[in-house]
Amino acid sequence: MDTAGRYRQFAAMEARGNSPSYERLSSAVSGDTGLLALIDELPPPKRQPNLLLGAVRFLGGPIDDESAFRDWTARHWPRVRATVLERRTQTNEPGRCAALLPVLARLPQPLALIEVGASAGLCLYPDRYRYLYRHGDVVTALGPADSPVVLECLTTGSGSGAPPGGDRGGAVVPEPVRLPEIAWRAGVDLNPLDVTDPQDVRWLESLVWPEQHQRLARLRGAVRIARAEPPELVRGDLNGTIRELVAAAPAGATPVVFHSAVIAYLTPDERESFAATMRELACPWISNEGPGVLPEVDRRLPDVPATEHLLFTLALNERPLARTGPHGQSLEWLPSGG
Ligand SMILES: C[S@@+](CC[C@H](N)C(=O)[O-])C[C@H]1O[C@@H](n2cnc3c(N)ncnc32)[C@H](O)[C@@H]1O
Repeated sequence: MDTAGRYRQFAAMEARGNSPSYERLSSAVSGDTGLLALIDELPPPKRQPNLLLGAVRFLGGPIDDESAFRDWTARHWPRVRATVLERRTQTNEPGRCAALLPVLARLPQPLALIEVGASAGLCLYPDRYRYLYRHGDVVTALGPADSPVVLECLTTGSGSGAPPGGDRGGAVVPEPVRLPEIAWRAGVDLNPLDVTDPQDVRWLESLVWPEQHQRLARLRGAVRIARAEPPELVRGDLNGTIRELVAAAPAGATPVVFHSAVIAYLTPDERESFAATMRELACPWISNEGPGVLPEVDRRLPDVPATEHLLFTLALNERPLARTGPHGQSLEWLPSGG
């Protein structure tokens, strides 16, 4: 697909319904031959709409008016180009902890958390966030009441994929009754972002789409939490570091490897190599990824109706447990997989 098509598709399929300004801007870019020519000088992976739009916002460019956006971007192209080349789409979404938490809570405690593809590591603090799980009429609240991050998650289903949770208000719900106990947290990323660096934080904020005020607020809350105790993140490739990280977990804690929205960035060979290592390490391995990137998880997915929106699959050691909203906003427990 050419660049114009890519921006048109982004406007229609991704931004529409989520961000009116991104829909307008990417659609305007798709018809601007001058801007398209500049974008086409970038290496193909750097031409993605999300990256360009985030870079313009990072640099303080206007996003309320299409023609102002186009003029500004063309006029400031050397800076836009440098930002796009230097930065990557590394959206860090602490909301995904709402999907991970029920699985973390039922593992033998305490846990040594290891996140691969951690970005700034904001998913390494599941015990510091407040959760509101809504399951039918039952609302399960847990986590510190004074947490600046409140994660709301709509849960459905109670298939045998669901972990045993609690009994509340006369209804048995699969959501956890207590928070996991975290003894140690560490992560790896090709390019770890630093929560104490204002430019890195500004970049993380620029990756949240403009109208998503709630996501921005929780990102800021999570950054405050992480700044108080910055995560131990190593720079490197997940395949090259995972054994070392698991070996570094303190004795007496269960090492748990997890990741979300990461495996799509790997080549098929890298994906298979990671899965093979995880099978060999045989520690709890929680994946929360989109379709098509972990073939064994996909193969074991039970037959469930297709949905209009993209959903991730939450799996424990490749056994699918739930379909999840990509930002942790929903959890649909699956009947047990194959
Ligand atoms: C979309 S972000 C998701 C961040 C975080 N897991 C979350 O859910 O909020 C994907 C992250 O994976 C990292 N990544 C991609 N390929 C990687 C690799 N081979 N090794 C380590 N990190 C990788 C990227 O740098 C990026 O920070």
